[in-house]
Amino acid sequence: MRFDIVSANPKILESSLKHGLISRAENKSLISTHIHNLRDFAEGKYKQIDDIPYGGGTGMILKPEPFFRCINSLLEQRKYDEIIYPSPQGRKFNQPLANELSLRENLLLICGHYKGIDERVIKKFVTMEISIGNYVLSCGDIASLVVIDAVARLIPGTLGDGESAITDSFQVETGFDFPQYTRPAVYERLSVPKVLLSGNHKEIDLWRSKKAKTKFRKIKKINKDK
Ligand code: ADE
Repeated sequence: MRFDIVSANPKILESSLKHGLISRAENKSLISTHIHNLRDFAEGKYKQIDDIPYGGGTGMILKPEPFFRCINSLLEQRKYDEIIYPSPQGRKFNQPLANELSLRENLLLICGHYKGIDERVIKKFVTMEISIGNYVLSCGDIASLVVIDAVARLIPGTLGDGESAITDSFQVETGFDFPQYTRPAVYERLSVPKVLLSGNHKEIDLWRSKKAKTKFRKIKKINKDK
């Protein structure tokens, strides 16, 4: 699976894509990520990528021309299953959408910055706007990283244990994981629940399911009360 990312701020992406799960998947040739610096597609002495908004207002808007040049050059090379624009106005990003995107071959993400991007870029190219939550980030690069991470880890072979993506929180029925412990059994007088040391797998499964359901109900109530 291939991810192309158009960015005005490639350094934010580079550091994250070079480490952890995404770089491991890339080393195994399961995915490839390609960052395209918007400034490389800007013209003039100052390689200007942003400008003041028509109609007035504060903040700078990313200009259409560098996006058009960059995206058109990418479209000459391959087709994209989706051209994604991360924005707070988009479709809510959740596990079902991550699952859906993990079945695609080529995704292109275009990252906004400052106050936004020229609407003509969205109208012309974007097939899906995605919001990672009801809050405003300083740039779409961070949201793109969230999307890439959540999608890449679903590609078979990316995770060490082939089973683990299926049993993740949000993939399981209750939507939440049970509490996990590792050694030591007692730390600073805090003990691991006895059932987990019992070796009785039926009891352990029962305990885990009960704990996950309790947590699910608790969080659901907190979210509802807010
Ligand atoms: N860009 C800025 N805020 C965002 C959000 N909440 N989700 C996706 N992209 C964004």
